Amino acid sequence: MIIDRLVNMYFSPTHSTEKIVYTIAKSWGVPEQRTINISTLTERHNFKFNIQPDEAIILGIPVYEERIPDLLYPVLTKVRGGGHPMILVVTYGNVSAGIALKQLNKMMRNQGFKIIAAASFIGEHSFSHEEIKIASGRPDSKDMEKAELLGIQISRKIKNIEKIENLPELNIKGELRAMGKLLPRHSELAFAHSPIIDPNLCKKCKKCLELCPVNAIDPETLKSRDKLCIRCFACVKLCPNNARKIIYKKPVLVKTALKQLGKKRKEPEIYI
Ligand SMILES: Cc1cc2nc3c(=O)[nH]c(=O)nc-3n(C[C@H](O)[C@H](O)[C@H](O)COP(=O)(O)O)c2cc1C
Repeated sequence: MIIDRLVNMYFSPTHSTEKIVYTIAKSWGVPEQRTINISTLTERHNFKFNIQPDEAIILGIPVYEERIPDLLYPVLTKVRGGGHPMILVVTYGNVSAGIALKQLNKMMRNQGFKIIAAASFIGEHSFSHEEIKIASGRPDSKDMEKAELLGIQISRKIKNIEKIENLPELNIKGELRAMGKLLPRHSELAFAHSPIIDPNLCKKCKKCLELCPVNAIDPETLKSRDKLCIRCFACVKLCPNNARKIIYKKPVLVKTALKQLGKKRKEPEIYI
């Protein structure tokens, strides 16, 4: 089978998933590539999925609460396959990938895609902070090597496929661990307040407005609206002036729990 065109589709507020998707795509080496970035609310609102007859797709999302992020369902349910080859990528903060990849595999298979490969990678945890570093610096060079290797493996696998219909299904494992099992949904809201602004550092450049995946930032005051904020902390991590801060709600508890759960380095898991 020959693939000449590739769609790189991702949701990635803090860019770890985006990096992995592009690294795989680059080493796979498909000549013509296009991007569907669903990280902003506007893109998701205006989302209409179309795929050309000979296109393959890499779909990348982060793991939230050990699952597919709830906010992506309206878009992901519109992604329909008709037998097109698809590569799945999830990125998690070294705590637990839970069932996200398994859910995504089931969903995309049911929606008509042929899953060629799937992988979970590790990215710096959204809640990571100078004091509590969780997967800080990930994905690192070792992760990137694995993503490059995966691109090469996919390219080889695709070349050897004669009939995509006969391709065996991947047996993707996953279970709820840690927080996903014990805590009620959306417990991230109980871990931290929405970000606060340091008025001495904020230059009102409004970059945070572009970064927020859910339009939770007031365009006038630039304050985060607590009820809308999903705690991805993209506006904190990517603020050019370091003007936004994470404030934990129960600092000792959060620090102990997350540090403990994310302490042991986890490695990417590849299915091909
Ligand atoms: C609401 C929320 C829930 C999260 N849940 C988990 C989780 O269950 N397990 C985990 O290891 N990381 C979790 N994370 C961390 C992200 O999966 C991780 O930071 C990921 O690299 C973000 O991807 P991105 O950089 O592409 O946005 C969560 C982050 C957020 C914002």
